[in-house]
Amino acid sequence: MKKGIVLLAAAALLLAGCGSSAASASAPAPAESAAESIKETQSETVSTETSAAEQTEADTSAAAEAPAGTNPEGSSDTLVLYFSRTGEQYVVGVIDKGNTAIVAEMIAEETGADLFEVLPADDHYPTTYNELTDVARQEQNDNARPAYSGELPDLGGYSTIFIGAPVWWGDWPMIMYTVFENNDFSGKTLIPFSTHEGSGLAGFDRKLEDACPGAEVGKGLAVKGSDAQNEQEKVRESVGSWLAEHGF
Ligand SMILES: Cc1cc2nc3c(=O)[nH]c(=O)nc-3n(C[C@H](O)[C@H](O)[C@H](O)COP(=O)(O)O)c2cc1C
Repeated sequence: MKKGIVLLAAAALLLAGCGSSAASASAPAPAESAAESIKETQSETVSTETSAAEQTEADTSAAAEAPAGTNPEGSSDTLVLYFSRTGEQYVVGVIDKGNTAIVAEMIAEETGADLFEVLPADDHYPTTYNELTDVARQEQNDNARPAYSGELPDLGGYSTIFIGAPVWWGDWPMIMYTVFENNDFSGKTLIPFSTHEGSGLAGFDRKLEDACPGAEVGKGLAVKGSDAQNEQEKVRESVGSWLAEHGF
């Protein structure tokens, strides 16, 4: 597992440094220095500040128990759209609720937003960390557009959409590009958030702007995945401050 982590950190560093797209991921740099540098290169101004500010809580109930795409109230003009994985994960070990899911739920709880989890149509993602990194890497190299399950809720009623995912190899997971390209986000305010273990927001905001022309992209938030699992009070505070900046 250590080898995978090192490769991951090195690749993330390289990607963050050159601002490259998913398809242009480079070979990893030397391990120790890359792992250190990855923290230093949390250069995503806003988001890194927020994530470095460490963060907080989650009642781990809501979204995991609600079917993906469920909108029990159907009355909000705000949506939280996210992708997240359970199973073996970097730093936190085996988890039964994904790090990003925890943050997504916090946002939904604080804003009253509807929640939609992006699930793969064919869940080919391994639940062991090293294998997952291999599959994710291959998808990046192939510039793949993995299919997601079902359809997003009708976006017509939503003016603000929080969009979150784990950083995978310094970028959005490729399945999120499928979401961006298969749906019309023009005219919406899109607010990205990431969970990560060193890469911060990893350019999620810029990449979202590129992928969703016509949308306005707001200030993002980056949360350490391990904090989402283990420091939830802190994370909830950071989420709250960030939401307040967005007028929530
Ligand atoms: C395939 C894969 C690639 C990853 N790449 C990065 C990365 O480039 N930079 C980083 O900081 N963390 C990386 N991580 C760590 C995850 O971003 C982090 O653990 C995240 O919180 C997982 O969120 P989730 O539980 O919602 O899936 C990677 C994890 C996986 C599984």
